[in-house]
Amino acid sequence: MRNRIVAGNWKMNLDHAQAKTLTQEIAQVLGDLPQNQRVMVCPPSIHLNTVAAIASEADGLEVGAQNMHQAASGAYTGEISAGMLKSYDIHSVLLGHSERREYFHEDSALLRQKVDAALENSLEVIFCFGEQLAQRENDTHFEVVSAQLKDALFHLTADQWSKIVLAYEPVWAIGTGRTATPEQAQEMHAHIRSFVRDQYGDSCADQLSILYGGSVKPNNAAEIFGQPDVDGGLIGGASLKTEDFLAIVAAMK
Ligand code: 13P
Repeated sequence: MRNRIVAGNWKMNLDHAQAKTLTQEIAQVLGDLPQNQRVMVCPPSIHLNTVAAIASEADGLEVGAQNMHQAASGAYTGEISAGMLKSYDIHSVLLGHSERREYFHEDSALLRQKVDAALENSLEVIFCFGEQLAQRENDTHFEVVSAQLKDALFHLTADQWSKIVLAYEPVWAIGTGRTATPEQAQEMHAHIRSFVRDQYGDSCADQLSILYGGSVKPNNAAEIFGQPDVDGGLIGGASLKTEDFLAIVAAMK
């Protein structure tokens, strides 16, 4: 059975006290999750240790990083490495988010290096990708998404794919309030799974969790998560409010 996952990407939001409060509130309510369900928060790196300490006292709440550098160590002012994350007991990292691609010029060649560095340190990679509005409008969205996956991930072995989670986030749906319809999400997720199946075979494709991200809210989560190839969500804005995030977690069933 595939894992169903709801992960909150806090982006560059919340100060220390706010990060503590949000984590405590989520942790208090979360309790026992069904065996195939996972819940994660991805705070700014400066809050990782605090959030991880609170989460470790609670059942079921996992913590991931939003980014990391591809090198093991060295003169890279302002950066953090996979090994540093691991040394703080952080086991997952988002890579390839569209904001990293757009504002920090991360391309597939760089992401490939970051993926390799994460896997060398046994981190799980939540790999984000998705087309821009113009690409959907000119009907190249399937090609774009296939290339993003192939260029950054298809050098991996089938075994390494057990540490990969995919997060399809159409750029036009991020932070816009304009979510993909459940049909658009399902159509793309089915494409993604079959693209991975062609390259890696049934067991890899059938075990792969593919999350949807882009304006997921309490009022649309259940319908999106109810699609057969949608295995949960990567949540931005709504992950900053306890009640909204927990309502989205509850929609995972
Ligand atoms: P929103 O949920 O705010 O649209 O953000 C989605 C996202 O980018 C998660 O990584």
